[in-house]
Amino acid sequence: MRYLLGLDIGTSGTKTALFDEEGNTIKTATYGYDLFQPQVGWAEQNPEEWWEACVKGIRDVIKKSNVQASDIKGIGLSGQMHGLVLVDKDYKVIRNSIIWCDQRTEKECKQLTDTIGKERLIKITGNPALTGFTLSKLLWVRNNEPENYERIYKILLPKDYIRLKLTNVFATEVSDASGMQMLDINTRNWSLELLKDLNIDKNILADVYESVVVSGHVTEEAAKLTSLAVNTPVVGGAGDQAAGAIGNGIVSEGIISTTVGSSGVVFAATDTPRFDKEGRVHTLCHAVPNKWHIMGVTQGAGLSLNWFKKTFCAKEVEDSEKSGRYIYDILTEKAAASKPGSNGIIYLPYLMGERTPHIDPNVKGAFLGVSLINNHDDFVRSILEGVSFSLKNCLDIIENMNVNVDEIRVSGGGAESSVWRQILADIFGYSLTTVKASEGGALGVAILAGVGAGIYDSVEDACSKIIKGNLKVDPNTDLKDVYSKVYDVYNSAYPKIKDI
Ligand code: XUL
Repeated sequence: MRYLLGLDIGTSGTKTALFDEEGNTIKTATYGYDLFQPQVGWAEQNPEEWWEACVKGIRDVIKKSNVQASDIKGIGLSGQMHGLVLVDKDYKVIRNSIIWCDQRTEKECKQLTDTIGKERLIKITGNPALTGFTLSKLLWVRNNEPENYERIYKILLPKDYIRLKLTNVFATEVSDASGMQMLDINTRNWSLELLKDLNIDKNILADVYESVVVSGHVTEEAAKLTSLAVNTPVVGGAGDQAAGAIGNGIVSEGIISTTVGSSGVVFAATDTPRFDKEGRVHTLCHAVPNKWHIMGVTQGAGLSLNWFKKTFCAKEVEDSEKSGRYIYDILTEKAAASKPGSNGIIYLPYLMGERTPHIDPNVKGAFLGVSLINNHDDFVRSILEGVSFSLKNCLDIIENMNVNVDEIRVSGGGAESSVWRQILADIFGYSLTTVKASEGGALGVAILAGVGAGIYDSVEDACSKIIKGNLKVDPNTDLKDVYSKVYDVYNSAYPKIKDI
């Protein structure tokens, strides 16, 4: 049997997963790390901690699976997108990575729009200037830390830093590179005109490949540390959203997906680049050659529930520790004990500003409509509903871009809860299917590795063999009216609170 390894360098931790060539999960390991918030709206991580988590994870899965390292035929890398990793000429990290949800770059976004023009930016990069994307972060370093900017030899995305550690090669691939906002997503290569107008040296960018192409091989040093075999091929891989989409079989028009991870996403594959004129959803290259994708992003999806748990659920956390029950099962059960509409509470999930549909880094979250009848259960439910409304905003825009919706597949940690899945189906007004594989992103990049290693003919071929729809959740038609009313109220809230 041949095996494939997928790594997903997430925000809360790195998941390492080993699969056989039929897509069965053999072993997984997850190691976490810290997120630093030196100021409100800032978010940073230490790339060395990602690497430590990868080394431990790889060693674990090889040891516990008893698979011979030489039977691992390919490695795929996935990870949080948009993070800026600065590396000097000795391949050392210059400062902590400024990661995807950091919102410090509003001024740089204005500078970018003034220099390039909003329409031209969307035409070239698929997106308007966004605080989350890498380019504005790079401009921030140039404006605020010129001594660090001077030291830059290369800039990398999170998963591409792990590639450097594994293979000693500076490389990236089209799906993640699209989220840097320096790629011309039409030609799938760096935009020389954009770099020239912004006075950015192209040499600081890594070589860009299609996601299935082998970009390098495991070095002796990395093999010693990880117990991988020397020369194991590492393919381009994909940003976490494109990787997760492949893990869900979202590789052609018609099947779309929604994911509730730290952020929440509605994702559709397209045969041509398709843009929203206002740039409310992202248009990026897909990790499938010759395909693109659009996605709407809710900044604070699982992040919202996690924050609520940490801030307001000491009792539930204690119960969970005593009973051994999973804390999110306890919380979603509480949500189920409230009512559709959360007895009047509306939650706006803007803890880290919002992307779709508002593109507003400054807006803050809110609980609206709180009254004396409300209890803790209502607050928990309002979070599940508010995040689902925000995802419905994403779905609405995508449907208005003439994308067929034949099937919606749901995934991510939040969607493991049957309560949250049902709320999503009710608010979307669509049936949702789950897929068998729970390793989403890691499986997606293992599939890319399998294509690169010649095990599968194409990504589409692999997905049709491996990814199977599983459980179906139908919307409860009795709730259509109540949710449509609450959705209208939810939508009317943003213009009223945005300047407060
Ligand atoms: C996508 C995005 C997030 C991060 C973290 O645009 O910002 O999905 O990749 O998961």
